[in-house]
Amino acid sequence: MENIKSYVQQHKDRFINELIELLKIPSVSADTAYSQDVIDTAEAVKESLTKAGCDLVEICDTPGYPIIYGEKIIDPNLPTVLVYGHYDVQPPDPLELWTSPPFEPVIKTTDIHPEGAIFARGACDDKGQMYMHVKALEYMVQTNNLPCNVKFMIEGEEEVGSASLAWFVQRNQEKLKNDVILISDTGMISNQQPSITTGLRGLSYVEVEVTGPNRDLHSGLYGGAVANPINILAKMIASLHDEDNHITIPGFYDKVQELSAEERAEMAKAPFSLEKYKNALNIADVYGEKGYVTNERNSIRPTLDVNGIWGGYTGEGAKTVIASKAFAKISMRLVPNQEWEEITELFTKHFTSIAPAGVTVKVTPHHGGQGYVTPIDSIGYQAANKAYTETFGVPAIPVRSGGSIPIVALFEKELKSKTILMGFGLDSDAIHSPNEHFGIFNYLKGIETIPLFYKYFVELSK
Ligand code: BES
Ligand code: MN
Ligand code: MN
Repeated sequence: MENIKSYVQQHKDRFINELIELLKIPSVSADTAYSQDVIDTAEAVKESLTKAGCDLVEICDTPGYPIIYGEKIIDPNLPTVLVYGHYDVQPPDPLELWTSPPFEPVIKTTDIHPEGAIFARGACDDKGQMYMHVKALEYMVQTNNLPCNVKFMIEGEEEVGSASLAWFVQRNQEKLKNDVILISDTGMISNQQPSITTGLRGLSYVEVEVTGPNRDLHSGLYGGAVANPINILAKMIASLHDEDNHITIPGFYDKVQELSAEERAEMAKAPFSLEKYKNALNIADVYGEKGYVTNERNSIRPTLDVNGIWGGYTGEGAKTVIASKAFAKISMRLVPNQEWEEITELFTKHFTSIAPAGVTVKVTPHHGGQGYVTPIDSIGYQAANKAYTETFGVPAIPVRSGGSIPIVALFEKELKSKTILMGFGLDSDAIHSPNEHFGIFNYLKGIETIPLFYKYFVELSK
């Protein structure tokens, strides 16, 4: 595949401009105000797959947003790669912290991306990374380098829990049959050191509501005599971690897969600078579970975090009030072999039980999913490693990520195939944050590396 590099060089301006067009459509799945934009994005993805050379592309209706299915079958006897990605994006707020508007993509340079990065919501997560696969397909079809069959499944609800995708996968097992699933929706260590994600955390996401008196009260007349739901909620949340930052929910750690000393020693070999980590976040020190280092705390250990908390008076000035209700959104990141539904139950039971008599507690589960780990001796992993080694000049390092793509565990269960997570983003690309961006270097390297995965996967499958 000598000419992939030159093909990318020749077409890079168009590749960048096409991605910029896709990024202009605000496909925010969480907010119904954007629903027409989400649907328009599905249409744009369909068109791009048709142009890139799929023989069949369909917009598949679901109870939620549509899923785009595309395929190019060259020989039923050859292996089939199933590419998964998502075209929906996170909400862009807080808007005032963006240095340029989130849906008006611009190229700017940064210390880490001296050759430029595209700034826009979804640039890295996941429109940019998904589109690398569309352009890699274009190259393979245009130059007669497609060595096997390929299927695409691009969804529009990943950022809100992939409910329709689970529905779709359960109903289309035959259509989605494949030998390996390929996803670019994760990151790598740095532009000099590629890595392959071998694990993802699971998730249990809940909302809690604490109710005290039947109405908001004067905090002088009633203060001190009744339970203040906000005080109580804060106390209850604080009690969910002990002084060593272990989670106190009974049974929470029962199924956690502990790593051996050898596995932890292997993990510690990945390049990591605590000083740089702290400097990048402008914090004096890190914080977390006793007995584990930073790279373990954010990958192989489960966590519990409040994502939002509200109640009472938050407007201008002061209002002396005891609110009737207080709320919080809480996420628990889980590791193999914790069962997310079981953890949701344990949380609910415990959180309800620690409430004092003066309040009532309601726990509403949002969504969740299982974690994932994949071995490094599979053909898929070896093929990915060969591809990275060729384009980066150094082998990839296996890394367990702290993020979640719950659908990956479902793919294994329903479609019986392994997923290879070939990510090209960087942690500093600010996904889900203001000023999300994706390096031009990363985008083009991804397009170069993906066809090599196909090549080596087919070679190693023989
Ligand atoms: N692409 C991310 C997940 C990710 C990013 C994994 C970087 C590993 C490295 C995905 O779009 C995402 O944001 N997932 C959500 C979970 C989902 C159920 C809303 C997450 O991890 O918070
Ligand atoms: Mn994503
Ligand atoms: Mn995301």
